[in-house]
Amino acid sequence: MTVVIQPMTIADYTAVRALWETCDGVGLNDADQPEAIGAYLQRNPGMSFVARQDGSLVGAVLCGHDSRRGYLNHLAVHPAHRGEGIGRRLVAHCLEALKEAGIAKCHLFIFTNNQAGRAFWRKIGWELRDDLTVASHILSAR
Ligand SMILES: CC(C)(COP(=O)(O)OP(=O)(O)OC[C@H]1O[C@@H](n2cnc3c(N)ncnc32)[C@H](O)[C@@H]1OP(=O)(O)O)[C@@H](O)C(=O)NCCC(=O)NCCS
Repeated sequence: MTVVIQPMTIADYTAVRALWETCDGVGLNDADQPEAIGAYLQRNPGMSFVARQDGSLVGAVLCGHDSRRGYLNHLAVHPAHRGEGIGRRLVAHCLEALKEAGIAKCHLFIFTNNQAGRAFWRKIGWELRDDLTVASHILSAR
């Protein structure tokens, strides 16, 4: 059956959230509440995508940019549909959207212990950097 890739809208939130919650490699926090995701989609229109088969959501990814670099977040494919090329297609749609926006480079965060995720990114041609460490600082509670 055909899998179609479409821009994510906030109407997809419930199904996307349910998918993310089944995926160990996706870390969810306060920035993943519906209001925050709605604001993200408005700020980065047409850059985040879902994959559907027969109307059912089988994959999702968030993508946006800060006018300098692109960022991918929360790429997830339903466990029953892994290995079918859906993850690769979702990423390709994001990179095309970033390219059209004039963005030349894209980054993502990945948990160090996400071995399957790391293998996927390597396989599709991404460089896993060992010269960088992510630093975070909490400004205030939402
Ligand atoms: C990572 C993930 C998105 C991959 O999605 P997918 O649809 O199964 O990946 P694809 O089918 O598009 O695979 C693309 C290529 O990567 C390879 N690949 C995928 N998963 C792999 C794995 N665990 N180990 C090695 N290679 C892998 C595929 O074999 C394929 O290579 P090929 O084109 O040469 O055959 C999916 O496994 C997932 O949702 N994982 C849980 C969430 C997660 O960890 N997300 C990443 C957060 S950074």
